[in-house]
Amino acid sequence: MTYTKEKKKRRTSAPIKEPDLSWLRAISLRNINSIVLFPLFAALLNRIPYLSLPEMPIAYFLGCIIFWYIFVETTVRKGAFFDLHAAYRLALYTVVSAGILVNSVIVHFISTDLLIYITPLFLTVAIVTILIGFEEGAGVGLFLAFIASATFRFSLDAFVMLSIISFVTALATRRLTARISIARAGFAVGAVFVALVFARSFTESAFNWIQLSAAFLNPVLSSIAVIGLLPYIEYATRIYSNVGLLELGNLSHPVLKNLSINAPGTYYHSVTLANLSEAASEAVGANPILARVGAYFHDVGKTKRPQYFTENQIGDNPHDRLSPSMSNTVINEHVQHGVELAKRHRLPLLVEDMVKQHHGTRHKLFFYRKAANRTGSTKREDFEYSGPKPQFPESGIVMLADSVEAAFKSLRNPTPGNIRETVAEVVEAIYNERQLDNSGLNLSDLEGIVDAFTRVLTSSSRPRIEYPQEEPESEVADGDTSAEQDGETRKREEDI
Ligand SMILES: [Fe+2]
Ligand SMILES: [Fe+2]
Repeated sequence: MTYTKEKKKRRTSAPIKEPDLSWLRAISLRNINSIVLFPLFAALLNRIPYLSLPEMPIAYFLGCIIFWYIFVETTVRKGAFFDLHAAYRLALYTVVSAGILVNSVIVHFISTDLLIYITPLFLTVAIVTILIGFEEGAGVGLFLAFIASATFRFSLDAFVMLSIISFVTALATRRLTARISIARAGFAVGAVFVALVFARSFTESAFNWIQLSAAFLNPVLSSIAVIGLLPYIEYATRIYSNVGLLELGNLSHPVLKNLSINAPGTYYHSVTLANLSEAASEAVGANPILARVGAYFHDVGKTKRPQYFTENQIGDNPHDRLSPSMSNTVINEHVQHGVELAKRHRLPLLVEDMVKQHHGTRHKLFFYRKAANRTGSTKREDFEYSGPKPQFPESGIVMLADSVEAAFKSLRNPTPGNIRETVAEVVEAIYNERQLDNSGLNLSDLEGIVDAFTRVLTSSSRPRIEYPQEEPESEVADGDTSAEQDGETRKREEDI
């Protein structure tokens, strides 16, 4: 049927109006749980040590639902990671519940004069901010400030003070890259708390030194608890902070050591990829640490049969002795084995995703063409990677860097001009294949990525200064001079 006939048919046939059931979708079990049940559970948890409801119980429960929805749930729904892994929501619920319980128990059992100063909001807000993000941490802080202010008979004064402390905690603990920064944040929030106590003394009763010390020590001691708890939370949830990711990225992980010994070509490919991915992530405002670590681990599955990948071959290519479909199976295996290794070593969930997604649903064109030439009736889909396509920006960047790095190696005489041309060609091809549809990368991001890749590759291909030649001592070539030959024998990775 032609396009015009199809259009006519649509015009003549009476439109069937389907009932709008979108409101029904809003009443799903997931929504009821995340919008109503969890805040109600949190509200009850806060009252456990008292075994009673606060004054104005209806306002208390309604307030909890409203605060949770506006400040936490809406922020969480914007984040891609919560849709990808249930572990994120589970971790959020657990950290918030534990924070509420610790808070209400401490406040209940310690002297009433110090109540507001010993509320350990820093603990929960810092953990959520460090593991998940600033917006989520600040949102959780406002929710906790409301829930805690119920203990102080909904005092506006207490609510404002705790909200400020929560917000400053989220600000001070965002984008941390070192453990010592968590301690520094504790001191900074302690100083703000002390300043607030001073400011409060102008309107309320005068402060005493015990209150002042409690206000300062509360965030400082909480920061020590955060530093101690983080590795346990990271191991249990596989949600890693930047500090945890940096530890994985120091190249001493046993999986990377094994890669460097068994598949040295892949190891060096991964290191180059890490530099490319980090620069591109910085250019588009993605997380450069996550991109770097994901790049280090993306091909760890090649440790199983390293000789089947061009970067590890010296002369012999075992694919010459295999049928195209067998080669296809062996190459697919590096993704599956990589995922197995990521699970076995409890690598971050997002790193496992990057292992799974770095080829998306692309085709192994070289083997597809080889098979098509032999049989003539080969299906292109049979030579597709199992995917899925990249689901977040850092994963999309690793996919692009992977192909760009392979294409760069096939350039015989790299110049800034032909490097940019090659990079742009590869990025455009992957974009046109619609591999980046779910990655959250837009066209202006891609321009920034092309610039960053070109900059890194151009600086890495700059020729060395020639040293004046002295008398040759040996006939054995220097290790670095083999690069040119290497480039000539290599094929593009998308062709294997
Ligand atoms: Fe790969
Ligand atoms: Fe790769």
